[in-house]
Amino acid sequence: MKILVIGSGGREHALVWKIRQSPKVEKIYCAPGNGGIGEIAELVAIGPEQIEALAGFVKREKIDFTVVGPELPLTLGIADLFEERGLKIFGPNRAAARLEGSKAFAKEILKESHIPTGRFETFSDALSAKKYLSQMSPPYVVKADGLAAGKGVLICASRKEAEAAIDEILVRKVFGSAGDKLVIEEFLEGEEASFMVLTDGEQILSLASAQDHKRVFDGDQGPNTGGMGAYSPAPVVTADLHRRILEEIFRPLLSGLKKRGICYRGILYAGLMINGQGPKVLEFNARFGDPECQPIMMRLKSDLVPLLQATIEGRLDQVKAEWREDAAVCVVLSAQGYPGCYEKGKKISGLENLKDWRKGSVFHAGTVKKDGDWLTLGGRVLGVTALGKNIGAAVKAAYWAVGQIHWEGMHYRTDIAQRALEREKGKSGKEFIAAS
Ligand code: AMP
Ligand code: GLY
Repeated sequence: MKILVIGSGGREHALVWKIRQSPKVEKIYCAPGNGGIGEIAELVAIGPEQIEALAGFVKREKIDFTVVGPELPLTLGIADLFEERGLKIFGPNRAAARLEGSKAFAKEILKESHIPTGRFETFSDALSAKKYLSQMSPPYVVKADGLAAGKGVLICASRKEAEAAIDEILVRKVFGSAGDKLVIEEFLEGEEASFMVLTDGEQILSLASAQDHKRVFDGDQGPNTGGMGAYSPAPVVTADLHRRILEEIFRPLLSGLKKRGICYRGILYAGLMINGQGPKVLEFNARFGDPECQPIMMRLKSDLVPLLQATIEGRLDQVKAEWREDAAVCVVLSAQGYPGCYEKGKKISGLENLKDWRKGSVFHAGTVKKDGDWLTLGGRVLGVTALGKNIGAAVKAAYWAVGQIHWEGMHYRTDIAQRALEREKGKSGKEFIAAS
């Protein structure tokens, strides 16, 4: 079987790494991929937004199916195009991907499906948006409607800051047409968790729970990023909460989509805020979370390929996913300055020390190999991902490996999985594992 993975980050490296272990697979391509992925797959120089060119490549090479990593091609309608041409693809169609592509649309569906989420209102005019602020209390949450490379959510401490955010989005158009509308939302307190499921529109197969670390600095300080580290399982998602997430969020969501004539096929990611009142939805993504995908792929015992095929073919009820009891932790190594401006082309040393690393893998997010040297090529550069018998052991293994790697300006958080470690100390192992 031949498979194409679209994308170029740590998520895609982890997907390619896992797919490659399948006995069903004879060849894997990745478009466009990155240096690290190039070691285990054939790279194809087509960007994720070139959906016509991707369809042409798949047809020519007789690829059995395609797996979409990032959201952009999904919102451009890659699944619709492939389906029209009779090509199999893992990822939702354009209508379904609006759950990620439009925050206003996601909030509408949440509201009409009675799914717990923060109180909100949508605006396209700055004056009305500013007026609405008087019905909210600080901190104010202002979100650009469309895709804004992870930068479209502004949490504002004061009314003045929130008014400035509204002007930035609706008047100055800093996010372009992604800011034609915005959502003002109630600020939710609690602990965040990422919950992903595979769905064929009818059936749901939940993946192991995970937790991400959005802020760039230790102690959740500094600006939001794509994610500075992740771990799985997330002990905040107890067995009871797991059940509630499926019953109160995913099932009504699929019914709500169906009522609108939308069938969601692919991975569906809910960013949740969890507190004493239960889980509430912060956002949806139409793809695997990154870096969450890295620890999750490492914990997946089953072959991923039949799971992806069952999703595409609408027979998820016929497959099961088995998970390792081990925990997995991913520490992201990023370039100095990320998520703002950063330099590229720094020489990375130490990767050779980890070639035979038994406890984990180093997934590449932004690297290139030049004349035998590894160079940095992105904001997030590597995802050092380790397994351990519990979160503590996985943290130790991951940070040991981080200690082997160096480049000028390398940055990482030193507190990945701290919250889970605190919970782990206080709970029995059984309760902890129930979280997966
Ligand atoms: P989103 O892309 O909507 O998940 O927002 C990015 C991040 O902003 C989330 O992971 C949260 O950390 C934060 N955030 C978004 N919405 C809210 C909210 N209503 N209350 C508190 N924090 C939020
Ligand atoms: N790590 C969060 C995301 O992928 O959106």
